[in-house]
Amino acid sequence: MKEKIEKLKKERNAIILAHNYQPPKIQDLADLCGDSLELSIRAAKTGAEVIVFCGVRFMAETASILSPEKTVLLARGDAGCPMADMVTAEALSAKKAQLPPMPVVAYVNSTAEVKALSTICCTSANAVAVLQSLEEEEILMVPDRNLAHWAAAGAGKKVHVWQGFCPYHDGLTVDDVRRARAAHPEAVFMAHPECRPEVLAEADVVASTSGMLRHARTSDVEAFIIGTEVGLLYPMAKENPEKRFYPASEKMFCTDMKKITEEDVVRSLEQMSGEVKVPEEIRVPAYRAVKRMLDLAG
Ligand code: 13P
Ligand code: SF4
Repeated sequence: MKEKIEKLKKERNAIILAHNYQPPKIQDLADLCGDSLELSIRAAKTGAEVIVFCGVRFMAETASILSPEKTVLLARGDAGCPMADMVTAEALSAKKAQLPPMPVVAYVNSTAEVKALSTICCTSANAVAVLQSLEEEEILMVPDRNLAHWAAAGAGKKVHVWQGFCPYHDGLTVDDVRRARAAHPEAVFMAHPECRPEVLAEADVVASTSGMLRHARTSDVEAFIIGTEVGLLYPMAKENPEKRFYPASEKMFCTDMKKITEEDVVRSLEQMSGEVKVPEEIRVPAYRAVKRMLDLAG
C-alpha cells in the first residue's frame, strides 16, 4: 500500500498532509503531520500540484483558500468537524448586525463562508497573539466558546463568545482529570484550549497539539496525561519511546478524524476524487482573514 501511494504521489506531483489526530497508518504515510497552523503554512508553501488532505473538511478548505491553483483532495469527503458546523454564515451575519462594529476572529475550525465574513483567523496555537494583534478591545470570536474564554483571558480583551464547542474536548470533565491524576500522580497534565475553563484551570500546560508535542519532547518529565483527542498519543509515544503518555479520557475520540484509511488515500490519488474547491467569491474574502493570520505568524 505504501509503495502504491509513493508511486501515485510521484505521478501526480502530490503531497500528503495529515493532522496530528489522524490514525497511525495515515500519520506514517504523510509527508507532514502537524497542528492546524503548521498544516496551513505548509499548504501555502508547497510546490506540489496536488494536496491530499488527511483531516477534516475545514482543513482542506483552508488549503484551497491559500492555494487556488492547486488541486486539493479531502481523502474522505464525509470527514467534517461538528464544531465548525456550529456557526453558519447566516447566523454570523445576524450576530454582526446586532452588535456594534467590531472585528470577528474565526477559529480555523470554521467553514470558508464564515472565514469570508471574518477579520482574521486564528488557531489554538496563536489565538492569544491574534487577539493582541487587534487594536480594538472588543472582539467577536467564533465558534469555540472554550478557546474564546481562554484567549480572552490571555489577551486581556473583551470577547463576545459564540456558543460552539468540540464535543470531544468539551466532554472532558474535572472528574475525568482528577481520576487520571490519581492513577498517575507523577504525570504532568496537558490540555488543549478547546477544553472547558474549569478543566484548563487544572492543567499544567495549555497548548495546541503540536505545542503539546514540543513540550513532551523538551520537558524532563517522563509521564504526561493528555487532555486532547487520543490520536495525539501515537506521535507522542513514537517520538518519546522512553516516556509515558496517558489519555485524560478515552472518550476523547473524534470519529471524523478517524474515518480516513489508506484505501481512501489511494482512491483519491488514483481517481483525483474528493476535490475541495472554494468558489472565488468566498475564497477572496476568506483568504484575507487567513493571510492576515499567517502574516502574523511570520
Ligand atoms: P490543533 O492541532 O491546531 O491544536 O487543532 C485541534 C483540532 O481540534 C483540530 O481539529
Ligand atoms: Fe472538530 Fe473536535 Fe474533531 Fe477537532 S477534534 S475535528 S474540533 S470535532
